[in-house]
Amino acid sequence: MSAGSKGRVLIVDDEANAREALAELLTDEGYTTATASDGYKALGVMGDFEPEVVLTDLKMPVLDGVSLVKRGRNIVPHAAFLVMTAFGSIDTAVEAIKSGAENYLTKPLDMNALTALVERAMEKARLSAETAQLRKALDNKLSLDNIVGDHPSMQRLGKLVAQVARSRTTVLIHGETGTGKELIAAAIHHNSPRKAGPFVRLNCASLAESLLESELFGHEKGAFTGAVARRQGRFEQADGGTLLLDEVSEIPMALQVKLLRFLQEREFERVGGNEVVHVDVRIVAATNRDLTGLVKEGRFREDLFYRLNVVQLDVPPLRARKSDITLLAQHFMEKHARENGLTQKDLSDAAIRALLMYPWPGNVRELENAMERAVVLATGDSIDVGHLPALTSSSEAESLNVMVPGVTLAELERAAILQALEVAGGSTQAAAEMLGISRRKVQYRLKEWGMHAKGDPE
Ligand SMILES: Nc1ncnc2c1ncn2[C@@H]1O[C@H](COP(=O)(O)OP(=O)(O)OP(=O)(O)O)[C@@H](O)[C@H]1O
Ligand SMILES: [Mg+2]
Repeated sequence: MSAGSKGRVLIVDDEANAREALAELLTDEGYTTATASDGYKALGVMGDFEPEVVLTDLKMPVLDGVSLVKRGRNIVPHAAFLVMTAFGSIDTAVEAIKSGAENYLTKPLDMNALTALVERAMEKARLSAETAQLRKALDNKLSLDNIVGDHPSMQRLGKLVAQVARSRTTVLIHGETGTGKELIAAAIHHNSPRKAGPFVRLNCASLAESLLESELFGHEKGAFTGAVARRQGRFEQADGGTLLLDEVSEIPMALQVKLLRFLQEREFERVGGNEVVHVDVRIVAATNRDLTGLVKEGRFREDLFYRLNVVQLDVPPLRARKSDITLLAQHFMEKHARENGLTQKDLSDAAIRALLMYPWPGNVRELENAMERAVVLATGDSIDVGHLPALTSSSEAESLNVMVPGVTLAELERAAILQALEVAGGSTQAAAEMLGISRRKVQYRLKEWGMHAKGDPE
């Protein structure tokens, strides 16, 4: 939050005069403002500007105010929307409120009423964001136990996380999308001596270069047009805690230099300022890109890479730790049943087989989404293949694609047996023949995994 600013207000009106007048008024009142001339433009601005209050006209030629309220709430869930309507079209204002707007004002506007309403809306938005943050902090009570995984690679990773958490070492987390990089970063913070301090995250890919710089390092009043007050950057916000630089590969070259300086000297200057700021921040960076490759291409500074890569944690993709799939599926089933107030369900053998055969390009996130959906869709007490999204499984050859290192022999055996069973329509005899092992061995393994074959004659 901008120190000194009373908060961010986005003003949306198709009439330029009205827009500018409101912006001027609210800027004078001490708010940071941005404007947009229609609903679509407003939606475009929201993600970056993150307004706490949106003040919008209702009647606009392109995407009206009611639609803006509906859609905007998904982008800035804690923002309060105030709608302005011409006297006599209260109906639309009521509709806007039903869609989630906070309050409405009739035109011509009473400026005193307006400032009072904006102030109240701002308070409300802050409270809502704060409550959400507190709730999230509670949910996130991240002990390492929240990282589910039995696979040897995850066990090793867990030990490493516990070890590095104790220090202030910079950590680089590398892994495909959805593998749990953010979860691990949070676990590092919550298991570190600085856990009482803030855990701040910034997605480096989400902002344009100029915005990213002031977001990271903050800016002084007057640093650029619109910088009406000094603003703290994420480094200052994270003082005493941990800063996660997500998608770190996306930091532009010019900023890489500034980041390098911070990592070396633990100091920086705000945009537009000379004052040297010192903060005590632990940096954790995450990426799904191959940074060494980017270094070779000259798109990422080598010196910065080495500074970030003091300790590298590699999170393996889900398909390389198949034994975790059922464990995670079970975990998410329980979690989402609990959260939705539904009874706990079981996974059918066929569903387990389908989960194991799918390569999960979206990794744990994709699995969680699939399980959440299944929990909600399944009306009985068992989740079957039909409740899972069409897991367009790769061909059999592909799903046995061996990742060494990555899979254990036990996992290979399991994948082979399950696949043979699939092909054999569940007959343990036929599967055993395919694999050249005894039927008893197949049955024994199934029992071990808590499964039973469906296709066998009774
Ligand atoms: N081992 C795990 N145990 C429990 N939940 C997990 C695990 N790994 C990931 N998740 C969950 O999966 C989801 C995705 O994880 P996360 O956001 O940490 O992935 P990510 O690697 O940061 O992805 P991206 O690269 O897309 O940012 C989260 O909801 C997270 O809680
Ligand atoms: Mg992430």
